[in-house]
Amino acid sequence: MGPCGVGKTHLAAAIIRGLIEKGVTCLFYEFGALLKQIQESYNTLAQTSELKVLAPVYEAEVLVLDELGASKPTDWVRDTMMQIINARYNDRKLTVFTTNYTDECRDQKDETLEDRIGMRLRSRIYEMCRTVSIEGDDYRKRFGSEPS
Ligand SMILES: Nc1ncnc2c1ncn2[C@@H]1O[C@H](COP(=O)(O)OP(=O)(O)O)[C@@H](O)[C@H]1O
Ligand SMILES: [Mg+2]
Repeated sequence: MGPCGVGKTHLAAAIIRGLIEKGVTCLFYEFGALLKQIQESYNTLAQTSELKVLAPVYEAEVLVLDELGASKPTDWVRDTMMQIINARYNDRKLTVFTTNYTDECRDQKDETLEDRIGMRLRSRIYEMCRTVSIEGDDYRKRFGSEPS
């Protein structure tokens, strides 16, 4: 958990790179991209089916779902997230999530992770995961500044 540019994706990718070298089957997905692939599979002309997209997501020993809560939380998005995360939960499979949302909002207009993904899903993830909070400046801002 943490704001933009603190290295969440970098760390999640580093974790699975290390595990892949040890022969563990791992999969990385930006959550929004996964949801989009599932939606596209509903198209009658699609070359793929929902199950084909989801099989590796269900089977990977370690799955990274990057950017949890970033997709606009429609009913379909929430149901589909629940379906995926619940399947991993039931199989006791390890999942690494990253998110820009936190459990406490800094001011009133802020949304919490629970606001974004719903109470039931937040509750599942409490049991599945240990929280790692990362604080820091946006590393990407360095790219825009003059060299010192
Ligand atoms: N430990 C690190 N060493 C070097 N560069 C890093 C490290 N962590 C993050 N970065 C770089 O900082 C930028 C932001 O990291 P990223 O993981 O994309 O942040 P987040 O996912 O938290 O928004 C990227 O360009 C990334 O390559
Ligand atoms: Mg990221």
